[in-house]
Amino acid sequence: MIQGLLGIEDLPREEIEAILDRAKDFQPVGDGSFAQFDRLRGKTVVLLFLEPSTRTRTSFEIATRRLGGDAILISGAGSSLSKGESLVDTLNTLAAMRPDAIVMRHKASGAPHFLARHLRTPIINAGDGTHEHPTQALLDARTILDRKRSLEGLRVAIIGDIEHSRVARSNVYLLSKFGVDIVLCGPAPLVPPELAGIAPGVSIEYDMRKAIRGCDVIMMLRVQLERQHEPDFPRGEYFSFYGLAPEHIELARPDVLVMHPGPINRGREISSEVADSQRSVILNQVENGVAVRMAVLERVLG
Ligand code: CP
Repeated sequence: MIQGLLGIEDLPREEIEAILDRAKDFQPVGDGSFAQFDRLRGKTVVLLFLEPSTRTRTSFEIATRRLGGDAILISGAGSSLSKGESLVDTLNTLAAMRPDAIVMRHKASGAPHFLARHLRTPIINAGDGTHEHPTQALLDARTILDRKRSLEGLRVAIIGDIEHSRVARSNVYLLSKFGVDIVLCGPAPLVPPELAGIAPGVSIEYDMRKAIRGCDVIMMLRVQLERQHEPDFPRGEYFSFYGLAPEHIELARPDVLVMHPGPINRGREISSEVADSQRSVILNQVENGVAVRMAVLERVLG
């Protein structure tokens, strides 16, 4: 059992392995049905989403229900935050109703960590600003392991807006704990050289073709325009330098996996031909989101 889940950086490798192993039990069986689990019967999970989300929010809700628990969804616009209530007061109010856990997405990096110090209710980070998105990295690892024997020794290229990506950070922390060779690639303003120092095994490459050559996994990232202060971002030009097209796939290993956390912007960071190709596991990532979040909820709530 763990007290909440705030990030991957401080999560021991054994905990990660335990979550990934348990998630297999929550994947659909051969005929597409699910084994029945009741581990959250009588438990209530509050889903506090103060930034937009489709995949994370829905999969946490399904995960809670599939385990027999109750999920209560709160969004920013429909809550008293829109009437001026502070985040601390909102969280204290929610905690006073004694939910068993709070799943939280917030635009400020570190918001869940700050609140976790003040609340006894376990907090699961569903994405905080540009900092971490731990359950995304866990579901990405589960998706890779469904197709590769192990993570050790793989070469993974993470391409796009690394600077603003919580998905990239959590993936780097996770993959680095398992001896993966990680290449970060994107335009220089979005991939500052100091990112090479955030974890062992990380290198930087600004040439997308070199980054992809010999890769086992290509993870594409969305350009996070909402976190940039660049009104003149060259959207059209971006694809010609850092958009994933069929010709890139031939540079990678023949069994390369193409991943993207979503939402994807077709024609900006990835072509439709690649996103919908046999090499793409984007919808498998979404499917594993439910299984992995079930494993996380079970581990946090016991
Ligand atoms: N990958 C991800 O976090 O997607 P959502 O923003 O739709 O939850």
